Amino acid sequence: MSVIISSDKITIETKNTLYVIKMLEGVLPIHLYYGKKINEDQLPDINKTRSFSPYFKIDNKEYSFDNLKQEFSFYGYGDFRATALRVLDLSSGSDITNYAFKEARSFLGRKELSGLPYSEGECETLELVYEDSVTESELHLYYTVFYDTDVISRYFSLKNNGNKELKILKAMSLSLDLPNGNYDLISLRGEYAHERTAHRDPIYGGNHRIMSRRGASSHHFNPFFMVTDRNADEESGDAYAFNFVYSGSFLDEIELGQDGLRIMTGLGDECFSYLLKSGESFNSPEAVMTYSENGIGQASRNMHSFVRETILPKSNNKKRPIVLNSWEAVYFNINQKVMLDFAEEAAKVGIDTFVMDDGWFGARRNDNAGLGDWTPTPEIFPDGLGAFVEKVHSKGINFGIWIEPEMVNPDSNLYRAHPEWVLRDEKREPLRSRHQLVLDMANPQVVEYIKESLDKCFDGIDINYFKWDMNRNISNAISPYLPIERKGETQFRYMLGVYELFGWFKKRFPDAMLENCSGGGGRYDLGMMKYSTQIWTSDNTEAKYRVYIQHGSSYGYPMSTMSCHVSNCHGQCEDERMLDYCFKVAVNGPLGYEFNILKVDQSVKDAISKQIEEYRAYEELILNGDFYRLKNPTVDRCYAYYIANADKSEILLSYLQNNADPDETEHILKISYASPDLNYRNTLTNERFSGSALKDGITVKADASERYGLMWHFVAE
Ligand code: GLA
Repeated sequence: MSVIISSDKITIETKNTLYVIKMLEGVLPIHLYYGKKINEDQLPDINKTRSFSPYFKIDNKEYSFDNLKQEFSFYGYGDFRATALRVLDLSSGSDITNYAFKEARSFLGRKELSGLPYSEGECETLELVYEDSVTESELHLYYTVFYDTDVISRYFSLKNNGNKELKILKAMSLSLDLPNGNYDLISLRGEYAHERTAHRDPIYGGNHRIMSRRGASSHHFNPFFMVTDRNADEESGDAYAFNFVYSGSFLDEIELGQDGLRIMTGLGDECFSYLLKSGESFNSPEAVMTYSENGIGQASRNMHSFVRETILPKSNNKKRPIVLNSWEAVYFNINQKVMLDFAEEAAKVGIDTFVMDDGWFGARRNDNAGLGDWTPTPEIFPDGLGAFVEKVHSKGINFGIWIEPEMVNPDSNLYRAHPEWVLRDEKREPLRSRHQLVLDMANPQVVEYIKESLDKCFDGIDINYFKWDMNRNISNAISPYLPIERKGETQFRYMLGVYELFGWFKKRFPDAMLENCSGGGGRYDLGMMKYSTQIWTSDNTEAKYRVYIQHGSSYGYPMSTMSCHVSNCHGQCEDERMLDYCFKVAVNGPLGYEFNILKVDQSVKDAISKQIEEYRAYEELILNGDFYRLKNPTVDRCYAYYIANADKSEILLSYLQNNADPDETEHILKISYASPDLNYRNTLTNERFSGSALKDGITVKADASERYGLMWHFVAE
């Protein structure tokens, strides 16, 4: 049992962590501890009240909500820190609540989070029930425990049991109070084409918010973050990692105050509000956390295992398609002959899936028109899409296609027929981005329409792969469909509509693999990963820059989610050494190619065939192996990592010299996970190494040139 409830204490145990809740005066669950396993006598004391802090109860001056470590916090009732839940009673105008604890229970498994993506697998759940007598609302906190991966997930559910109307003004799914200390924050920040670069900053006193207001988890700020002790490194020190199983606007809030650090993750208070009428309930999306006493690397590996085992579709750990994608080769200039020639050449070199990207439907000859009209362009496909796809298959290759279902060009039949189906404040002109508007996914009629048109478009056609894109962020986030009092729910209900569509799509096309994309990695999050086996990591396919994006992504996401293409961006594949470097950068995730295969020399095609063979030899490690970072490209001018399988019999070591190193630094790449009892052979050179030698490290010396890679594939003999 992972959850033990007694009259004065609740403990949650995972394989390597302990979480303790203390019942203060038998009535209030107070957060006591989260970290490595310790004994009862090592548990900390409960914070006592301070001057200027309101008493916990009229007859108890010893404690205050102001500095008690809380499991969850409520606005306006003596806790002056950032709050987890703020509920407005519309009948009185008061936003003060004080949820009193009623009971704790636990059960095997978890509750379904209807309409939202959530983690699934072997687990146990703790449920804490509270009630606020004035608003007559009931709060349930859920802690779902994934023992083996050391992950605890959290969300809340709020039910309006009374007759008043309530409005949720702030909703955080997870709240954790840690004691005072010197902490660092690792967050993944960036911009379009440079998403998820890892930054490590000291946490100073005050309130720090990482958030997206873009209606997408965004290129700019990813919901994943870590809080570590100041001295933690890849192999040692305390590291707490957090993420949110959601793809829209979010808030990660980190506040260091007089008595500790409050960490929260949720929908926040800027892009979200929710009307709760009498009898109605609201579930927040799920947030997850893990802890490792063995540093940042282990916290990442916990998250990787958790994502692989409980979030990603079951097809995750199967062999992936190696695609040739048409985008960077021809952009919108799709024509049947070129596409079929691509498919034929791709098949010859050993690529197994040809993907026709944007430009195949409606009036979509550029990004000005056609989005929303999911019918193959008759001039391009006079015999229909089905006949074309059959021809592709006859070349001995699978077929994939690009879609962007949530969007519409004003120059489209759909918009002309239904201008009321886009997000907009009816009194203002909606802003365009990439010449497109955002469909009102909060409107069930719109969702149903998209289902019908995708169903009709692809019915009976053997499509093996879909790339689902979302190419702008959401401004004018007002649903014309929702009633005035619910307009503030637009962004949340937009996501519910998107998840509904994804759920339907997966059932309708169960054999096709789904790759997600939002101008590259603008929705690289656990919500999307619930439906998509992999995500297009970035539109930036220049290998040198990809390294930062892949390194940053590795903090929270397994390699198996990072779709990596070798492309000819800036002619980077036209010489042998660069082609090799691009491949070595790309084996950090499922491999693909993206250039004009009709325009490259036979020598390039021969090299690609060898790369594919080599990639397939490593694929199992890439999809399911344990990942260890060794060098950080943002500080070391190079990136190095290794991937190992569970029994330590296979290890892939990669060193990528990204930037020239005039100091010619000597790096020792220590494979601490190697087994001292095994002897290994590097299959690429046939050199032999003892396990202890690998533990001591492989020495490489950087040189003044840049953009080259070294790889070692060690197999135990
Ligand atoms: C986005 C994607 C690209 C490509 C284009 C097509 O930018 O990230 O890979 O699919 O859309 O319009």
